Amino acid sequence: MIRKPPGIEDIFPDRIELWNRITGTARHIFKIYNYREVILPVMEYTEVFSRGLGDETDIVTKEMFTFQDRGERSLTLRPEGTASMVRAYVENGEYNRLSTCKFFYCGPMFRAERPQRGRLRQFNQFGAELFGSDHPFYDFEIIAIMDSISKKLGIEEYRLLLNSIGCPECRTPYIKELELYYQSHKDELCDDCKRRLHTNPLRLLDCKVESCVTLRQSAPKISNFLCDECADHFTLVKTYLDHNNIEYTEDPYLVRGLDYYTRTTFEFVTHRLGGQNAFAAGGRYNNLVETFEGKPTPAVGFAAGIERMYLLLEDSEFRGEQLDVYFVHSGGETLVKTLEVLQSLRDRGYSCDIDPNGRGFKNQFKKADREKARFTVIIGEDELSSETCTIKNMDSGEQKNINASDIPANL
Ligand code: HAM
Repeated sequence: MIRKPPGIEDIFPDRIELWNRITGTARHIFKIYNYREVILPVMEYTEVFSRGLGDETDIVTKEMFTFQDRGERSLTLRPEGTASMVRAYVENGEYNRLSTCKFFYCGPMFRAERPQRGRLRQFNQFGAELFGSDHPFYDFEIIAIMDSISKKLGIEEYRLLLNSIGCPECRTPYIKELELYYQSHKDELCDDCKRRLHTNPLRLLDCKVESCVTLRQSAPKISNFLCDECADHFTLVKTYLDHNNIEYTEDPYLVRGLDYYTRTTFEFVTHRLGGQNAFAAGGRYNNLVETFEGKPTPAVGFAAGIERMYLLLEDSEFRGEQLDVYFVHSGGETLVKTLEVLQSLRDRGYSCDIDPNGRGFKNQFKKADREKARFTVIIGEDELSSETCTIKNMDSGEQKNINASDIPANL
């Protein structure tokens, strides 16, 4: 038997209903906030990510699925959507001439991580990116979108971690201070961090190795270094969150594992996912468009992991997608009549099903249960002669005799 590679999943119909509910809810909320869908390629030239995410990030150094095409150019399966989105935005002149652009996307991402619960090699994200404004309102809006999606889906027990990592100007003295601090503890650092100490000290705050996590607890905080503009921006983001009852916890060490962020960074975390505690994350990236040779364009965005959200919701009360009506008949003329009524309901947009072979009422009711039908409509010999049908609410068991034309009003 040929098996799938580790960290890659098949998603069968029993998971699709909740899956679609997650993506459907996200799409609905994106629409409410006026974000429009883009479908981006799953592979890009490798430099999109090496340049976009930063040469020293874990993703670029260890986790990319990279290969050569026949012309010996290096291609990579996208590990995330933001760098691709920026590449597409800069390449597509029509959009980057508009003042603000709001996009969302949904699809598979690839990272060669060690697979475990909630950590896959092929996983799916939905995300949103806004280009063209530095207004803190949009940092708030991006966070509010993810918060609405989480609440609408009924995700419980999560926290929003929030930080500002400033701009290149205020970050430079901070990084110097950070380097000094870690330099004096060099022996306690993991090998990766010993190297990164000189190439990209900010990454040390993101290291998951225990000794580095311990060291971080006493590291200097960016909040003491923010310039006036960055501090004001951060204050306004928090004001908008406060006024809209979105709770957050400030985490001065939240730098995120990608190099492109400026100012706001955030993560939606929960203790219910074990080691993989973040189910969505994002932030502002005001300089990334320039890195791709676009005209300077501030931007902010987030992405959520669909598999992680699925894990958070799989034990919830969600009953799966229900069939509106399962039809029950007793064959012959009753089947002809039933098919006519069934078709008229399908034409009106109701989901309906039937077993044309029938094989007894009991058998058909069992099937209605299996299909999680909300209602059954029975057209037997009695109903045929009285030109009516019997409608049964499968939840309450309540049953009544009505005209076929009154079915929609009873659903
Ligand atoms: P990220 O934090 O790398 O950010 O990923 C966002 C989310 O994707 C995570 O919170 C997690 O739910 C999910 N995720 C990441 N890796 C895995 C994995 N191996 N298995 C399962 N789920 C995973 C980004 O990707 C940025 N592009 C977010 C962003 C958008 N920032 C600005 N705009």
